[in-house]
Amino acid sequence: VININLSWFVKLILKKYFVKSIKSNNYQIEIGSILNSSFQTLLSNDYNKSKKVIIVDENTKEYCLEYLITSFTELSDAEIIELPSGEENKQLDICIQIWEVFTEYCFDRNILVINLGGGVISDMGGLIASLYKRGVHFVNIPTTLLSMVDASIGGKTGVDLGVYKNQVGLFSFPKRVFIDTIFLTTLEANQIKNGIAEMLKHGLIVDASHWNEVLKCYQSTHSITDDLIYQSVCIKNEIVEKDPLEKNIRKKLNFGHTVGHALESYFLEKENHILHGYGVAVGILIESYISFKLGLLEQGSFYEVRGAIHQIFEKVNFAKEEISKIIEIMRNDKKNENGQIKMILLKSIGICLIDQSVSESQINEALHWYLNDY
Ligand SMILES: NC(=O)c1ccc[n+]([C@@H]2O[C@H](COP(=O)([O-])OP(=O)(O)OC[C@H]3O[C@@H](n4cnc5c(N)ncnc54)[C@H](O)[C@@H]3O)[C@@H](O)[C@H]2O)c1
Repeated sequence: VININLSWFVKLILKKYFVKSIKSNNYQIEIGSILNSSFQTLLSNDYNKSKKVIIVDENTKEYCLEYLITSFTELSDAEIIELPSGEENKQLDICIQIWEVFTEYCFDRNILVINLGGGVISDMGGLIASLYKRGVHFVNIPTTLLSMVDASIGGKTGVDLGVYKNQVGLFSFPKRVFIDTIFLTTLEANQIKNGIAEMLKHGLIVDASHWNEVLKCYQSTHSITDDLIYQSVCIKNEIVEKDPLEKNIRKKLNFGHTVGHALESYFLEKENHILHGYGVAVGILIESYISFKLGLLEQGSFYEVRGAIHQIFEKVNFAKEEISKIIEIMRNDKKNENGQIKMILLKSIGICLIDQSVSESQINEALHWYLNDY
């Protein structure tokens, strides 16, 4: 009993006081309590003289901001900029309004932008910072599971153009990313599932044991451990480090996203939104089905993916008549080349292939299969 308690105690102390640090492309990702991270020295040394500008949405303003500003006295006179939450507001006109506010406040090029929020805030806040006066420094403090394991790392910033996802944006890396799971305590259960989809994707594309562990953990506890979050961040980071501008292997991270983004866009237009991760989950299933049908993925592995997605995610419903419109959106996918829809397909759990041409009739058949099978 003493041994068990001791190891539990040691783990608790380690978790509380030790921050894990991951080196990325010229910046650092820190995972652990932000109170023990380098955020303090960043504010009081590196950006001592800089105006701090914290970008939030109404929910992170309510649930996350107070913790941050009461923990760091350097933020007591920070400017708070609130963006409206939600994918439908990830648009350039909102960025323009924020640049106008920055200009009105006479913010100079030395400001530090602190993006406190989910993926919408890090995507937009990153873009706002990167284009204001040709670029000011920014850090990301992700507050959703999805942004911790995915959106806040890797340097992709951007906005949607109408319903077209991330159509306008640029690669621009933050100065640092601070991942503190304390922010997850106020997150709704569906937002945890939203992040689980990207974690499962990380396992499927490069690491079968991560796939197994995330599944096992989520199925038994309906939550996720800090260790698995760390592993997921490492997987994404390793890929991004090798190919920061997505010329080659970074494309792997788009597995599930050809179909996922098209569905997300389609539902944005209908004002009946689906969460990013739910779109990705459908994408994982349909793109695995196509992999199976093309003889790349063996049946047992395909059934395993199908079983897991069915168990965790509810069906995303659309009518058969809507399929052609969903495919039409895919024609604008960023991975396409010479008018050909390109996908990432699975060879096995843990191994994927990039730049695979898939015909519209194959996608059409797969979307019909999805509607009948679920
Ligand atoms: N740049 C990238 O590499 C990348 C990768 C994946 C996804 N994305 C983008 O990320 C976006 C999705 O991110 P998301 O799922 O984090 O969505 P989000 O930013 O919209 O956050 C989801 C919801 O949770 C609320 N919220 C955030 N933190 C909270 C907290 N701690 N407590 C309570 N509520 C909280 C938000 O206000 C919002 O309503 C999409 O736009 C997607 O395209 C980008």
